[in-house]
Amino acid sequence: MTDIFDFSTFPRLTSERVVLRELEPDDAADLFVWRSDPEVQKYNSEPMQDVTEAAALIDRLRREYSTQTAIHWAVTFSGSTQAIGLFGFNSWERFHHRAEIGYDLRRDYWGRGIATEALDAMLRFGFTRMRLNRVEAQTIADNHGSVRLLQGLGFQREGLRRAHSLEDDGTYHDGAIYGLLQRDYRSSRYP
Ligand SMILES: CC(C)(COP(=O)(O)OP(=O)(O)OC[C@H]1O[C@@H](n2cnc3c(N)ncnc32)[C@H](O)[C@@H]1OP(=O)(O)O)[C@@H](O)C(=O)NCCC(=O)NCCS
Repeated sequence: MTDIFDFSTFPRLTSERVVLRELEPDDAADLFVWRSDPEVQKYNSEPMQDVTEAAALIDRLRREYSTQTAIHWAVTFSGSTQAIGLFGFNSWERFHHRAEIGYDLRRDYWGRGIATEALDAMLRFGFTRMRLNRVEAQTIADNHGSVRLLQGLGFQREGLRRAHSLEDDGTYHDGAIYGLLQRDYRSSRYP
């Protein structure tokens, strides 16, 4: 059996087209590109106004790694250092073998299967090295890209929180909860 992940070495993950690597302070300018894009941030926090906010976020996420509470990766294409996405396990409940995921990608790379590939690499890592039993995701129910992404990887909708969040259009949107259990996970697309 493979060793359980213990945070001693940052886990670099690779797949067909993408690499998930450690998020570095130097990634602030790249991260700012999509975190300042209102379309990317439509279902998330307010778009960033200044690159210092990206630097502060990277600093926080790196601290979460060092305190062993979360793992976030910068997504790049193989052979490139440019960060185009931020994917991660936002929390890891070790006792329950459970973690929650988050993901966002630069808009000009949407619709090419990049998120599916990156998330699949994360799930493989989570269900083996982290020994997860359950991975969960919360998304706004009408965030169709996010919902399709989760469904395509085998997540099941487990609940709906009606009028859960007030969004940019000034209306309340339902929040959906998705879960994937280790026993149901099939990494069929990217062996
Ligand atoms: C959600 C997100 C990461 C998807 O990234 P992506 O690389 O475009 O996703 P993929 O190309 O892997 O597509 C996954 C599936 O979703 C579908 N899809 C992608 N965008 C879609 C959209 N806007 N509407 C409907 N379906 C969409 C794809 O066709 C694909 O379906 P398929 O497997 O049946 O072919 C990206 O849209 C994003 O960064 N959005 C903004 C941030 C965000 O909302 N994050 C989630 C917060 S909970």
